Amino acid sequence: MSGGSGAAGGGPRPAVKLGVLLSGEGTNLQAIIDAIERGRLRAEVRVAISNKPRARGLERARRHGIPAETIDHRGFASREEFDRALVAALRAHDVELVICAGFMRLLSPVMVRAFHGRIMNIHPALCPAFPGVDAVRQALEYGVRFSGCTVFFVAEGVDDGPIIAQAVVPVDPNDDETALAARIHAEEHRLYPLAIRLYQEGRLELDGRVVRVRDLPPPATPGAPINPRPE
Ligand code: GRF
Repeated sequence: MSGGSGAAGGGPRPAVKLGVLLSGEGTNLQAIIDAIERGRLRAEVRVAISNKPRARGLERARRHGIPAETIDHRGFASREEFDRALVAALRAHDVELVICAGFMRLLSPVMVRAFHGRIMNIHPALCPAFPGVDAVRQALEYGVRFSGCTVFFVAEGVDDGPIIAQAVVPVDPNDDETALAARIHAEEHRLYPLAIRLYQEGRLELDGRVVRVRDLPPPATPGAPINPRPE
């Protein structure tokens, strides 16, 4: 769970080898690639894997010279069989940390145990609120004043693993699903590379179900955000 295997002592830890799982647009994959290319994240995307052959995320990977593969879940009799194929592909590419980025399949214990403590996911809500699909719509229907996104270690439930990092966005009374989703998405693109960086630097430590982050600077924000703002 602390990442950056094999690096003891002072020197910089090696780049973390990522395998990214996706089903759609892949804007989070893009944010991770951009962070790597800008020198803000010591990582290498070894492979991008989609369960959907036409996922745009695969094209994004190819454009950056990253191997892009499809493993179509419809070709497998069970979730476990599909996950066995995923595990084999990820291992074939020597993946250390699995990044779920809009991967629309629930992972079975086969995957979760094979990469125990080494699978991250991102959810467009402040966990444990609004798990599952339609988190943005759920937040609007509930009338929350803040929502956001959460990066967590995948455990054997739905969106309920140990939380690594969260970002908060205000919910505007005039928001529709598109507007709120866009605001959350923009934060996801900052949050996911940060969470991976903390892993790569070996700063994440699991204490029960709580992820402790080592060597944090003091919080920068004076006072709590309030929405609507006091007049
Ligand atoms: C994100 O909103 C993420 O929170 C959810 O799926 C979406 C993926 O977006 N798990 P993208 O494919 O990375 O653009």
